Amino acid sequence: MFGKRQDGITQKRPAAPAPQPPQEPARAPAAGEAPPPPPLPGDAPAAPAAAAPPPAAPKPAPAAPPVKPAAPVKAKPAAPVAKAEPFQREKSADYYQIKTSIFNALIDTIDLTQLAQLDRESARDEIRDIVNEIIAIKSVVMSIAEQEELLEDICNDVLGYGPLEPLLARDDIADIMVNGAGRTFIEVNGKVQLTNVRFRDNAQLLNICQRIVSQVGRRVDESSPICDARLSDGSRVNVIAPPLSIDGAALTIRKFRRDRLRLEDLVKFGSISPEGATILEVIGRVRCNILISGGTGSGKTTLLNCMTAFIDQDERVITCEDAAELQLQQPHVVRLETRPPNLEGTGEITMRDLVKNCLRMRPERIIVGEVRGPEAFDLLQAMNTGHDGSMGTLHANSPREALSRLESMITMGGFALPSKTIREMICGSIDIVIQAARLRDGSRRITHITEVLGQEGDVIITQDLMTYDIEGEDANGRLLGKHKSTGIARPAFWDKAKYYNEHNRLAAALDASQD
Ligand SMILES: Nc1ncnc2c1ncn2[C@@H]1O[C@H](COP(=O)(O)OP(=O)(O)OP(=O)(O)O)[C@@H](O)[C@H]1O
Ligand SMILES: [Mg+2]
Repeated sequence: MFGKRQDGITQKRPAAPAPQPPQEPARAPAAGEAPPPPPLPGDAPAAPAAAAPPPAAPKPAPAAPPVKPAAPVKAKPAAPVAKAEPFQREKSADYYQIKTSIFNALIDTIDLTQLAQLDRESARDEIRDIVNEIIAIKSVVMSIAEQEELLEDICNDVLGYGPLEPLLARDDIADIMVNGAGRTFIEVNGKVQLTNVRFRDNAQLLNICQRIVSQVGRRVDESSPICDARLSDGSRVNVIAPPLSIDGAALTIRKFRRDRLRLEDLVKFGSISPEGATILEVIGRVRCNILISGGTGSGKTTLLNCMTAFIDQDERVITCEDAAELQLQQPHVVRLETRPPNLEGTGEITMRDLVKNCLRMRPERIIVGEVRGPEAFDLLQAMNTGHDGSMGTLHANSPREALSRLESMITMGGFALPSKTIREMICGSIDIVIQAARLRDGSRRITHITEVLGQEGDVIITQDLMTYDIEGEDANGRLLGKHKSTGIARPAFWDKAKYYNEHNRLAAALDASQD
């Protein structure tokens, strides 16, 4: 009964005329309205009536019929869809209408601030009780399965990230891309597909975006429509809101993988051959300076993470990232993260600031999540000045392009250096470029392990140690190919390998991967 917990969750606001009950608990403020404080992580959204005066008297309990689960009127087969993959099912306009009406009644009944103090399970139980009562009172006709689905949706709206929840719960999704309320795409196994997930409207989507970014103390609205954030599980989030995104907010989530991929996993997936993995392991162990290059979502960060596994336990490692994604296992790691400017446009800490600061922190290796600007100069300097074994990733489509991008980043960073000097710096710093790619069948492969040898005239000389050659396609459209060594028996980092007593392993791996 609504009145059964007069002292608790259902104790509610006055029956006096209240402001129009909002559609959404954490609705976006209307123009000119003071924005409500963003809800805290994991909290229920701020109660819409939180700003309203405290109840003068509890709402009289409506005479509710005894609660019993609504009998399934429309006999439906017990659809497993509801539980297993709720987002797969197209929901009718009726469903959304019923949900909105029950949702509004719920919001009107419960005290969200009190709900927020409960743990998730108890909050869910509370919501379940009340939703069941509302369904009974309103005599809504629903099957048990539909009722469960509705309850799940409402709990997600009140306690979590709404329609995104089922996607966030899945481990097989790499990216979630929401293009306005009506279209949500996901990437699974390297392939992008449209889902049936949809938001009630763009206001609900923006609300959920607000809830996400409020966790990192930020807001998205017309005045600051671009925002990077992170979910509590570590997933990387970008939001771009109207008016910059024209058809409703665009939300992009790179899902964090709980089961971190290791080099063995990449071998299992065929991203690299076992011999190639050995070569990478040696490269990581013997402190080569490494640049990981690749297109967007090609697996650069994953590969960087794998490469860090070969860093010794006693080395002091400092990581610099825009959004902390790396998961180093060593004990002596300092993790740094950049900071965007605040609303007044001040307080920004750039990647360059971090990398420069690193140098004063006695690092043995510096790891830069993504090199995209003038910090390239500082990273190269660090590599050149005794921080061997430093690593970074960069967006480029081939090892050669990676080197020329590095050069242009430095040129554009305003360093008045002749290009010959910049190239000398690059040759003197980078030992290895590893190229990652997402192929057209969705698979991710390491396509090149390439050494930087030096300069001849104005040209940087590189040498591939291993490449991935595509040889054909099977009946299912999967690309067939092979990682092959190019026949180089003594790579330029041979002496380093010898110094660390890894040369025999290196020679054996190179030898074994020849045709
Ligand atoms: N070799 C691989 N095989 C299968 N999946 C992979 C592989 N490498 C990475 N992935 C998955 O692909 C997704 C993208 O990987 P990752 O974040 O490493 O890419 P990225 O190149 O760093 O992307 P971005 O350019 O957005 O930073 C992740 O979900 C990751 O788990
Ligand atoms: Mg990345």
